[in-house]
Amino acid sequence: MAISSREAAPPELQTVRDWLRWTGSQLGRAELHFGHGTDSAWDEAVALVLGWLRIPEDRADVLLDARVTRQEAAALAACIARRIDERVPVPYLTGCARFAGLEFEVDPRVLIPRSPMAELLQTGLQPWLGGRQPHRILDLCTGSGCIGIAAAMAFPEAEVVLADIDAGALEVARRNVRRHGLEDRVRVLESDLFAGLGGATSGDASFDVILCNPPYVDPADLASMPEEFRHEPMAALAGGGADGLELVQRLLRAAPEHLQDGGLLVLEVGNSAPALLAREPKLEWVWPELEAGGFGVGIIDRAGLVAGLRQD
Ligand SMILES: C[S@@+](CC[C@H](N)C(=O)[O-])C[C@H]1O[C@@H](n2cnc3c(N)ncnc32)[C@H](O)[C@@H]1O
Repeated sequence: MAISSREAAPPELQTVRDWLRWTGSQLGRAELHFGHGTDSAWDEAVALVLGWLRIPEDRADVLLDARVTRQEAAALAACIARRIDERVPVPYLTGCARFAGLEFEVDPRVLIPRSPMAELLQTGLQPWLGGRQPHRILDLCTGSGCIGIAAAMAFPEAEVVLADIDAGALEVARRNVRRHGLEDRVRVLESDLFAGLGGATSGDASFDVILCNPPYVDPADLASMPEEFRHEPMAALAGGGADGLELVQRLLRAAPEHLQDGGLLVLEVGNSAPALLAREPKLEWVWPELEAGGFGVGIIDRAGLVAGLRQD
């Protein structure tokens, strides 16, 4: 049996190493769903114990035999119990998540960063950019800001706009922009899709790249999601309509006006991709194969959008 209250943490646990071992065992027995940045009980134990104790993973080896204080032990045990009893995802317990090799602050106002788009950004969106360097990038539906901030890191000369409809999410995004020291070229704007972006860019109001991980989950998938996902904001998951793609449809219609000639839209729709193809059968997406194993990220350029969108 896994623990379900802080009192149950055995007093013989003393070191970081003890806590890692014990937490891994507890999480492994608890039949949890792993899908918020980790994929096993052990990885999750590492993220929870090191994350909560604020020990950088690359320094953990020198601190494995450091003692955990009684106060820290009680708080850590309470976190483990919440992970098990309430199915709270680890990043909401530690307040931090990793994405594209970077640290982000998170709280329950934002989706936990996990988009497979990370891999495309880490390889500089090549070969799709064809060697070009984007000057203006929009991360629409930014949440924690993870995608746009990873893009700003990948393209150090680019001006980046992070936009979201949710003021709480934007507070988290702003904190992450500060954390990464990007205030001079990353702006954070409240906007319903493109509606609030007026004047967001210097010169004309269009972007070389629009990155977007919108809400796209359909009602059937929402109903069957593991308990862990119910801690995330519903507005970050549910895309509207029977197929979850109402917001995406609005976005596709509006996107050409905000893309430069030759500009790219990089859109995550996950397992709603077949529904997207049914809605817009003439759009010729590229679906990159992702080494890290994610799927459902489509890439299309402005001309492809204009040519393929249904005209009704
Ligand atoms: C799936 S989350 C993605 C968050 C982040 N980009 C990531 O990948 O972790 C979707 C985000 O879209 C935002 N959103 C929902 N409707 C929106 C709209 N009409 N305009 C702009 N943002 C919207 C939500 O507030 C949420 O932060």
